Amino acid sequence: MDDSRETLGPQAFVTGFPIKHSRSPLIHGYWLKTLGLPGSYRAHEVAPADFSVFVDSLKSGESGFVGGNVTIPHKEMAFKLADDPDEISEELGASNTLWMEDGRLKATNTDGRGFTANLDERHSGWDRAQSAVVLGAGGASRAIVQALRDRGVREIHLVNRTVERAQELADRFGPKVYAHSMAALPEVMRGAGLFVNTTSLGMAGEEAPRIDFSPLLPDAVVTDIVYVPLKTLFLTQAVRQGFPVVDGLGMLLHQAVPGFEKWFGRRPVVDEKLRALIIEDMDKH
Ligand code: ATR
Repeated sequence: MDDSRETLGPQAFVTGFPIKHSRSPLIHGYWLKTLGLPGSYRAHEVAPADFSVFVDSLKSGESGFVGGNVTIPHKEMAFKLADDPDEISEELGASNTLWMEDGRLKATNTDGRGFTANLDERHSGWDRAQSAVVLGAGGASRAIVQALRDRGVREIHLVNRTVERAQELADRFGPKVYAHSMAALPEVMRGAGLFVNTTSLGMAGEEAPRIDFSPLLPDAVVTDIVYVPLKTLFLTQAVRQGFPVVDGLGMLLHQAVPGFEKWFGRRPVVDEKLRALIIEDMDKH
């Protein structure tokens, strides 16, 4: 991309601490280039102690940014410091996407939409599931529970090592969400149409428990939000047991779509070339 195109158009960022491993610049850079739009998107590291000053510079226009993405550990502060967080972020208490509009800093959280858009793209009809099992009750789990509830899944069984954390989310997201300990896993899987792993289990270098997926409905879908490696131990076990699977890379790609549209004015498409570009980058590191 030539320099003039980068400096002339809207400037967007991804901030976190640390941020250098983020793949978001690759994703947005690909869309800017393929759509032929002026603008830039770059990683901008901000330490926790400096985050509120950074947000002030965004609001005043001094930073030169029109908006950007926010990742760990700034998502909760981004929500708190935004002028107008939307309902989605309000319920989650965290925002990952910021943009200036009419002189005010707006905020949303696109993780849940990324999750459902990925399933829609790779396994349409998944939402016929009346009952879903979500393993894990950390930060990533919240957005998924919210998105499943909002999509109309009737029963969401949240299973976590620390059952109190699952209960906290069940209280937050209402009567469709049930909290369970790990021991309840086989029982709550019975008749479920969707199984989601949101824990770090099965990430590169981590063990994953042996899971018997057979209590699920025969056409149930198994998905994992972990995408390093792409085929996690949950997914390989599910494939061996004859279940369709969806990997987590698409969630990363799809969660980026609404932000790009806000900052650069065009709705980008998640295509196979983009997926291949990120996989190639993952193979390098
Ligand atoms: P994130 O924001 O990525 O979701 P997190 O908030 O640290 O990360 O949550 C990690 C999730 O993985 C939690 O549900 C955690 O269970 P606890 O709430 O009991 O800590 C789960 N997890 C991590 N390691 C685990 C392990 N060895 N066995 C079972 N669950 C584990």
